[in-house]
Amino acid sequence: MAEDKIKVVVKRRQEQGHGVLVLDLVDSEGGALPPFSAGAHVDIHLSPELVRQYSLCGDPAQRDVYRLGILKDPQSRGGSLAAHAALQEGDEVWVSLPRNHFPLVSGTRRSVLIGGGIGITPMIAMAYALSADGADFELHYRGRNRAACAFLDELAACAFSDRVHTHFGEDGAESLDLAAILGDPAAGTHVYVCGPAGFMSWVIDSAKALGFADEAIHREFFQVDTDSSGAAFEVEARRSGKTVKVEEGQSIVDALAKVGIKIKVSCEQGVCGTCLCDVIEGTPDHRDVYLTDEEKTDNDQILLCCSRAKTAKLVLDI
Ligand code: FES
Repeated sequence: MAEDKIKVVVKRRQEQGHGVLVLDLVDSEGGALPPFSAGAHVDIHLSPELVRQYSLCGDPAQRDVYRLGILKDPQSRGGSLAAHAALQEGDEVWVSLPRNHFPLVSGTRRSVLIGGGIGITPMIAMAYALSADGADFELHYRGRNRAACAFLDELAACAFSDRVHTHFGEDGAESLDLAAILGDPAAGTHVYVCGPAGFMSWVIDSAKALGFADEAIHREFFQVDTDSSGAAFEVEARRSGKTVKVEEGQSIVDALAKVGIKIKVSCEQGVCGTCLCDVIEGTPDHRDVYLTDEEKTDNDQILLCCSRAKTAKLVLDI
């Protein structure tokens, strides 16, 4: 292990469903891996410039393997295509220690896990953890059709298969009867959702309309279409003593790089929080999904990979 990275080996590579690469990664020296909690992800270092996050979708109690499910997405910025092309059985690859921005809330009366497409991955780890705890939960898996979906054999054979519900159809997310699935918001149910942005918005908005409080709705964005449009503005990097113009369509990270200020990034989509920076003056135009609504209202932090400015100038603590 070097710093916060672990060298792992691809022990098993399978293609499941339509374009889902399922990888079992084990310690390069055959030992136990650092533990992870359900909902956690790892950064996988596909090359020095290409680092991507993927949810761990195995059983958290199983200490010798990290399982990932990676959808081949031709629209992606290279991460999923590189993983599909490059990672073969026996290959070594570096991954980060597991991190969890999507943890289960302990002690709740009932949990409803909803995964759309490849968004099923964190839900599988959550289902293993809830099952081990003897908790009351359901796992709902929404997919276009059976042939397209990965992990169906595993979910049919697992100890909690009676709690797994699949929903197939070409007619959009709305075919889920959310009112029936979620039940009474007063019953202490917590909802967890992961999937494409439109699917998640529909589940979240529907849960709120049914009376679920924000605190009872938990979400994991795995793919975000960040919008980089908007007028140019100026950024002053106060500690570095440099000021730079951020052009329309350019990120703050790219503008700062042009004057020699290198910002560490990972997802480059406002998801992971790696590029978080303190704001000294000015008002950010938040485009990320990492900060909470309350944190965004405070306007004292910004994600530099995707957010912009509402004021003509931002002064940053870098
Ligand atoms: S690099 Fe992930 S939020 Fe900016």
